[in-house]
Amino acid sequence: MSKIIPVYKGDGFFKRNAEFFTDSLNFTMRNLEEVGDFYYSNMMMRDYYITSNPEVVKHVLVDNQKNYIKSPAYQTLKLIIGNGLLTNEGDFWRKQRRLAQPAFYKGQLEALFYVMQNITLDFCGNLSQKCKQDEHLDVAEEMTKLTADIVLKTLFTSENDSNQKEMYDAVGAAQEFVVFCMQNPHLVPFTYLNGKRKNFYKNKAKLDQAIFNIIESRRVNKTDAPDLLNMLMGVQDADTGEVMSNQQLRDEMMTMYAAGHETSANSLSWTLYLLSQHPEIVERLRAEAQFVIGNEVCPSFADLRRLQYTKQVIEESMRLFPPAWSLGRENLQDDKILGYDIPKGSIIFISNYTLHRDPRFWKDPEVFNPDRFDPELVKARPKTHYLPFGAGPRMCIGNHFAMMEMQLILSTLINHFDFELTNDEEVIPQALVTLKPKFGIKMKVRELVPV
Ligand code: HEM
Repeated sequence: MSKIIPVYKGDGFFKRNAEFFTDSLNFTMRNLEEVGDFYYSNMMMRDYYITSNPEVVKHVLVDNQKNYIKSPAYQTLKLIIGNGLLTNEGDFWRKQRRLAQPAFYKGQLEALFYVMQNITLDFCGNLSQKCKQDEHLDVAEEMTKLTADIVLKTLFTSENDSNQKEMYDAVGAAQEFVVFCMQNPHLVPFTYLNGKRKNFYKNKAKLDQAIFNIIESRRVNKTDAPDLLNMLMGVQDADTGEVMSNQQLRDEMMTMYAAGHETSANSLSWTLYLLSQHPEIVERLRAEAQFVIGNEVCPSFADLRRLQYTKQVIEESMRLFPPAWSLGRENLQDDKILGYDIPKGSIIFISNYTLHRDPRFWKDPEVFNPDRFDPELVKARPKTHYLPFGAGPRMCIGNHFAMMEMQLILSTLINHFDFELTNDEEVIPQALVTLKPKFGIKMKVRELVPV
């Protein structure tokens, strides 16, 4: 006998859909109290099962993951990133993941760390100049530029800055279109008429050409640059001897770029915001940075292990503001979850944001408290209570890359600068593809110790 799942109807189809697609965070938080952590709702004529229940998460992402593919929202992302790891399925995904995985092993990450270090030092030098000009900076914008620079340089080290700037702008413009389509599924047909789609394809063609040029030139002029492109060009399938085609390399490069900079930028921005509200935590963080980094400008690769509190601060910030705030799946066959029948073709919408703020799993969930991530407490906590990087075989391939990058940047910034919030507007999250601060995060930055 199957049970009857709670149904959320709200104030009718249109209001419910508008609320869900444009104010998803409040929608799921409110419904956690009023409806529960696993319920049905009809959204855009599709069957949605909305959840923040850890058992459901485990079932969908880990135990029965073979029955689930990515939800249609990821199809929209395909417009930019093509068939990269994030959007691929089945055997093709498995093969690509196997090929790409070694690029994220510790030895390779160490090589990428030195690239990140140089960019962070340049960034701090520029920040120091801006401090002297008494500017109020939008740290969300600054972090986006910094992490875009890092990801582009770790993808293609040898490319010059003007090529990278062009790519950065073209991706930005293309991304705007994709976000528009994801947030306004009912307006997508109009994009064929109003020129938005045409413009998107123009930007995409520019971007593709730039990436194909880099790949072609690498095939002719081989380098030993320690970047992700070189690593991916060098891998060969152990069974078939196959290497990645130009198209596949392009798709993986675009995927890493798209998946790998906005997420880290948002996480760093939210961390700086949270720290601006908690001087006592800044003090502990700065003490650790000074102790570990000493008289150096920034930490070394070996130092990262000792920046434990820095790591906890980042983890706690991603609990409150998970950059990947939701995950979506669709089931290939009928399923039964917690005794409820889930017909094939349903969408399972997992809200990480709500799971991370559920008072049953987190005491005083709204409080920023990095001590929650003390290693002993982490060990005792079920893994499915905290999902910033997802779970199961589709878990983020770049999680160690991202943690290394964020520890490096945060400890260096906090060691040299002080950040004071000066926003006129309230700092609130906006759930786009990633979780962004809606009006940016303006700060007055002061240099404490010259870089
Ligand atoms: C704070 C930073 C980051 C966060 C919070 C994050 C989060 C996530 C999450 C939640 C997923 C799983 C999506 C799903 O299951 O539907 C994912 C997948 C992925 N991420 Fe990240 N990510 C971050 C940084 C990075 C970086 C730096 C890279 C690459 C350089 C990267 C590359 C990828 C790729 C390729 C996938 C797809 C993996 C697969 O399906 O095999 N991410 N990420």
